[in-house]
Amino acid sequence: MDHSRAPVLEALQEFRSRGYVPFTPPGHRQGRGVDPRVLDVLGREVFEADVIALNGLDDRLMSGGVIEHAQELMADAVHASHAFFSTCGSSLSVKSAMLSVAGPHEKLIVPRHAHKSVVSGLILSGVCPVWISPQWDAERHLAHPPSADQVREIFEAEPEAKGMLLVTPTDYGTCGDIQAIAEVCHSFGKPLIVDEAWGAHLPFHSDLPPWGMDADADVVVTSVHKSGAAVEQSSVFHLQGSLVDPAVLKGREDLLGTTSPTSLVYATLDGWRRHMVQQGEAMLTAVLALAESTRAAIDSLPGLHVMEFDDLVHSFDPLKIVIDVSGLHISGYQATDWLREHQRVTLGLSDHRRVVAQLTHADDHRTATKLVEALQALLAADLPAPKPVDLPSPDELQLETAMLPRDAFFAEVEQVPAGQAAGRISAEMITPYPPGASAILPGEVITDEVLDYVRSGLAAGMQLPDPADSDLESVRVVSSRAQARS
Ligand SMILES: Cc1ncc(COP(=O)(O)O)c(C=O)c1O
Repeated sequence: MDHSRAPVLEALQEFRSRGYVPFTPPGHRQGRGVDPRVLDVLGREVFEADVIALNGLDDRLMSGGVIEHAQELMADAVHASHAFFSTCGSSLSVKSAMLSVAGPHEKLIVPRHAHKSVVSGLILSGVCPVWISPQWDAERHLAHPPSADQVREIFEAEPEAKGMLLVTPTDYGTCGDIQAIAEVCHSFGKPLIVDEAWGAHLPFHSDLPPWGMDADADVVVTSVHKSGAAVEQSSVFHLQGSLVDPAVLKGREDLLGTTSPTSLVYATLDGWRRHMVQQGEAMLTAVLALAESTRAAIDSLPGLHVMEFDDLVHSFDPLKIVIDVSGLHISGYQATDWLREHQRVTLGLSDHRRVVAQLTHADDHRTATKLVEALQALLAADLPAPKPVDLPSPDELQLETAMLPRDAFFAEVEQVPAGQAAGRISAEMITPYPPGASAILPGEVITDEVLDYVRSGLAAGMQLPDPADSDLESVRVVSSRAQARS
């Protein structure tokens, strides 16, 4: 295929050069109607690039196939049979993928460390999760993707499961063995969905962990906005093989997606694909070398340790720099806040003892040096002792499931004081974010240990976006009446 083409970008240029006068959304009319104070901040170009697809980028019947052509090029670039663009992040793409494999009351194998968007998918769809434990790294208090042997065991125990969803890489960059897990799934005639939200760059360099489409997964979801160069919310899901019907997958996306996708997402996805096909390998080679030297420089700073995972997991994305700050006797939350406030350096993930810096092809010596210098400055920061987080053991993190997530979420609920919540069935998710893997799910029986974990975490700086009572003084549980009926 001709990867010098970028159909969406070309259609945008044509829309402009033909001088169309639209009487369709978006009502800002490519910026004409936007308050100059908004343009001062955002620039006119953002609005000029925001064009409706139907009778805008393409004609009324979409007969020019602009989006289809861009998706075909994306599929070809990343070795998939089909690619679908989504403008609602992987949060929507994972739901589309799940619903294309299992329906209400059907079973899907899901790792317990799945992102909260997967749990939302279970709640909305009524799919029954068959939970598979991640591989708990008790010493570091981390969850890595499950092994192929675990997957085999669970399919043997639950042969009616319709398929499996695997999350790899994790937010910490640790990866599961997609190929081996796909083999197990296929030996049972079942499809493998890979939530590879953190892996949009993986297809473009052989020194990076395996990419799902190369490792025989059936459906792979990516967030190009995370490690690629498309705008926030841009996601692609990919398909190959015969276990999932492309029309079903597209239909499920149609069920959930917007009827007004922005061309900003489509255009940046299209441009990212062209860029990566033409220059991705060279750009990634450069940033991989930069990551190696940056990791070494950070690791040499007293009190900081860059975590390596080689002996624990199948593979690891070296562009994720997982920095243990516990040697400085501070928490990751404190480090992240201090770096933002005093060094103007922002990081994504932090936890009780770590921060994670992610490099992309856009980073260079200037940004990497800034990171190292900011961390060096952190060594001298005068921070109070961190508030302790009561970390449960891996066993204590595995809560008993008493109801389906959907049934508990939509049940009659009551708000009980946190001190009385143990033993009750949760009606809400409680999720440290990022990374977004829930500590408590709707339908699970709350324990003191996990409640202590999230409540002490909250006091120490953990972000918990979901609970109805954001102070966690009380917890939303299934009412005693509804529990007795269930
Ligand atoms: C593993 C995983 N899956 C899915 C998502 C959702 O992706 P998005 O933010 O693109 O909606 C995330 C977001 O952090 C994630 O970490």
